[in-house]
Amino acid sequence: MIAISISYSIHQMIRNELDKKRRKAMDELERRKAELYRRFPRLGEIEDEIHRAGLRYNKAILMGEVPAESAAEELSGKIEALTAERERILTSNGYPADHLAPVFECSKCNDTGIISSPGGKGDTLCICYRQLLLDHLYDNSNLGISRNEGFASFNTELYPDIVDEERYGIKKSPRRQIMGILENCRQFTGKFSDPETRNLLFCGPTGTGKTFMAGCIAMELMKAGHTVLYFTAPSLFNTIYEYRYNSGNNEEWDPSAYKNILETDLLIIDDLGTESPSATRYAELLNILDTRISNDMRRPCKTIIATNIDLRNLFEYYDERIVSRITGNFDIFRFAGDDIRNLRR
Ligand SMILES: Nc1ncnc2c1ncn2[C@@H]1O[C@H](COP(=O)(O)OP(=O)(O)OP(=O)(O)O)[C@@H](O)[C@H]1O
Ligand SMILES: [Mg+2]
Ligand SMILES: [Zn+2]
Repeated sequence: MIAISISYSIHQMIRNELDKKRRKAMDELERRKAELYRRFPRLGEIEDEIHRAGLRYNKAILMGEVPAESAAEELSGKIEALTAERERILTSNGYPADHLAPVFECSKCNDTGIISSPGGKGDTLCICYRQLLLDHLYDNSNLGISRNEGFASFNTELYPDIVDEERYGIKKSPRRQIMGILENCRQFTGKFSDPETRNLLFCGPTGTGKTFMAGCIAMELMKAGHTVLYFTAPSLFNTIYEYRYNSGNNEEWDPSAYKNILETDLLIIDDLGTESPSATRYAELLNILDTRISNDMRRPCKTIIATNIDLRNLFEYYDERIVSRITGNFDIFRFAGDDIRNLRR
């Protein structure tokens, strides 16, 4: 299912892109035609004759001169004969029979983006449309180079299957722990649009896959057509600062970057606690969380926070109101294991 919450402008952009592809196919066809008609003038005549036959048919129907059925029969007979003649000319000169048909990039939908069913009911979006949508969502998500295939890319083997509470800070093995987290994340994406589904907070030491997991979730949601926006906490606060500064001083400033923080279906705030502290920043964070929590009652508007600061320290760092928003609206998951960056090296 493609989410309906996608902004109008993204769909408009994709339609423009598809229009461009169709136009390219038609221009290319015109070029082929011009060349062939010069060499084989009869091909041009055939096109004219098909065109005129169609016009004559319409006129005859409109004027009530002949019964529609016999006129249609005559027309299709005529067009068939002309088409066969055209194919003969093409093939006998070494061209493929369909050389005078447009070549679309996607043969499934002829670059319309839509697979239509008879009667127009149950039209579906073509796979090429979904891919364009995913690309747009990805380009607008800030996720940068960390593109993956979603949960299929998440490897639980990287987590040790050893119970060592002193070392990993949990009573289970990190492997069992991450399998539980992964299952919860699957449920999060599966029931993303349900207002009952709570936000996610990932905590745990560096290199244990918090950012990677957030990226997998982002990918799954974009595949389903949801908008995603990724920020590290410092870049989030920078964007807000720029907005506050410019919205008062610069009339031409585009406020959409800030609006998207409040509106995107999924917001990821990574590395929370690495920003330099200030009372205004906490007020901004509180405003973002409150606005998104209230949006979520009407349409999907969820947030994932990741941090490698110990929860107790984090809660000391932020004021009470932020802590209460987090404990009240987020499910907290503790990532554990060895630093996967070191394992890789
Ligand atoms: N489950 C996984 N499957 C495959 N690769 C993983 C997995 N988890 C992490 N990685 C890889 O390990 C590296 C470190 O993971 P990641 O950046 O997610 O850690 P982190 O918990 O966000 O660390 P930090 O707290 O320092 O931000 C990444 O480059 C990522 O590609
Ligand atoms: Mg990280
Ligand atoms: Zn298509």
